[in-house]
Amino acid sequence: MTQVFNDLAEWQSLRNATVWIDKTIGLVPTMGNLHAGHKSLLQRSVAENAITVLTIFVNPTQFSDPLDLNNYPKTLQEDLNLAEATKVDYVLIPQYKDIYADDYRYKICENELSKQLCGKQRAGHFEGVMTVVLKLLMLVKAHNAYFGEKDFQQLQLIKGLAQAFFIDTNIIACPTIRNEQGLALSSRNNLLTPAQLKLAQAFPKLLNANLTIPQIIQQLTQLGFSVDYIEEHSARRFGAVRLGAVRLIDNFAVREW
Ligand code: PAF
Repeated sequence: MTQVFNDLAEWQSLRNATVWIDKTIGLVPTMGNLHAGHKSLLQRSVAENAITVLTIFVNPTQFSDPLDLNNYPKTLQEDLNLAEATKVDYVLIPQYKDIYADDYRYKICENELSKQLCGKQRAGHFEGVMTVVLKLLMLVKAHNAYFGEKDFQQLQLIKGLAQAFFIDTNIIACPTIRNEQGLALSSRNNLLTPAQLKLAQAFPKLLNANLTIPQIIQQLTQLGFSVDYIEEHSARRFGAVRLGAVRLIDNFAVREW
């Protein structure tokens, strides 16, 4: 049965108990509003570890826009049902005051990759992500931590963070889960109107098409997307677009045509 912890001190005393010796621990950090993408991470962790820990924390330090933070979808009961159904052992739901007892005086920064792509438009975003992920890795002390490739830049930064700080957790990349129309699953999809959701399907299709970057930008703009960027780096094509207030990101390995 899944056990839920709201109190970090209680969690830490359990985590420090000897019962954990010889058991592999998998961590799936999330901001809640779980969908099939998160479910695939949880299933993989449950299959590969003796114990799986899910964290649910809407991390304010990674949001530059307070509206975006307020609008972030919250579905706690459904999330707990999914945790139970996928046989997650522990769910941590910490409070801001416990995670940021220092009120965010201490933070992690990176000076290259975090300034590109999403980092150009979202000042401080990756500092917030890396800081909270480091805290969660320290709190759970997992052997394996699972992250989706949809957030490819985040994944690379977390891998770099683990390496730079000699963290004994394997950072495991998991494939992007898409709906039948190819749209990458994201909690933000729930904020789209039905018409926007239909239109959003054109984004992965164009991003992964045999077109030049200017052609992709032109076609997305004509359809009504506002394009933050389409760029290629290390044989991967990355894109971020907006439909109204909702920002969508995606990426694909560049194909040989
Ligand atoms: O990808 C996410 O949901 C978040 O950025 C993460 C890794 C849970 C940190 O808050």
